[in-house]
Amino acid sequence: MSERIVSSIETDEDRALNIRPESLDEYVGQSEIKENLRVFIKSALMRGETLDHILLYGPPGLGKTTLAYIIANELGSNIKTASGPSIEKAGDLAAILSTLEEGDVLFIDEIHRIPRYIEEILYPAMEDFYLDIIVGSDGSSRNIKINLPHFTLVGATTRAGDLSSPLRDRFGIISKLNYYTEDELYQIIKRTSKVLDTPITDEAARLLAGRSRGTPRIANRLFKRVRDFALVYGDGIINEDVLNSSLDKLKVDKIGLDETDYNLLMAIIERFNGGPVGLEALASSIGEEASTIEDVYEPFLLQQGYLKRTSRGRVVTDKTYMYLNIEK
Ligand SMILES: Nc1ncnc2c1ncn2[C@@H]1O[C@H](COP(=O)(O)OP(=O)(O)OP(=O)(O)O)[C@@H](O)[C@H]1O
Ligand SMILES: [Mg+2]
Repeated sequence: MSERIVSSIETDEDRALNIRPESLDEYVGQSEIKENLRVFIKSALMRGETLDHILLYGPPGLGKTTLAYIIANELGSNIKTASGPSIEKAGDLAAILSTLEEGDVLFIDEIHRIPRYIEEILYPAMEDFYLDIIVGSDGSSRNIKINLPHFTLVGATTRAGDLSSPLRDRFGIISKLNYYTEDELYQIIKRTSKVLDTPITDEAARLLAGRSRGTPRIANRLFKRVRDFALVYGDGIINEDVLNSSLDKLKVDKIGLDETDYNLLMAIIERFNGGPVGLEALASSIGEEASTIEDVYEPFLLQQGYLKRTSRGRVVTDKTYMYLNIEK
């Protein structure tokens, strides 16, 4: 996997940082999702029933896992967790479902990676709260139904398009997380500064927000790295100078692009005349996996308008030529 400092993919170090907000009030941004969730959670609590199943989707590092834990907290429920790739057999999923207790939140990360034939076990579990399993073999096999307690499934995925429609249809609430604004990232950075007890000036926090690719995970990771420079070369306070010099050393430019982004954009310009170029051709030309480009590199470039997807492939835009200072 890539070692990019601005990769949105979670690293062990990110996980160890553990500065997740624990309530909706502390969770910055995503205001539409938050306000809806407040209503649905309150209503479920008033009715004394479980909350509808929720699907959270969007690019890595925007706070899906964080939100799943917050939902459980706000419901006053226990959370049990699983992830799509670890569910390899029907029995794995049945085992997880049979540990559930009334009112639990079951969080399944990367839910699109559950194999289709196993996924079918989820349908009756989500809809009518029972487990339909086959016991015995060949001649003597029969179906048995086991009632499950009522629970709320929170599914997370970076690829909503990969979810089968029967599964998608069984979620009562489907929410897309969006990239954060610089203002929101500024607030997240200020909070991180408090939690980590490392001061950052307002100007530096604003600049860092602008270089964090709309992504809290990246903001927090860069914060930690910049803190090291502030401690070693300065007085521990992150100011504008420390911020700029350390992010320059880390090769993160003023809008959060790094060498990988440059390579990708330059490849399209130099080798494919600005595009359109097919994903596979682009991938082999820069020596990356097509899926990595699709899931990790390109979402931010697309969102920022440095890259466009057309039916004939990827193209760079006028904005790209201007930003890279290249004549068209
Ligand atoms: N709204 C937010 N407010 C404050 N901090 C946030 C917010 N969203 C995310 N974070 C921070 O960003 C980090 C990444 O969030 P999280 O792990 O929830 O992302 P994710 O969407 O689950 O990513 P992935 O797709 O890789 O699983 C968290 O550790 C958390 O500290
Ligand atoms: Mg996650």
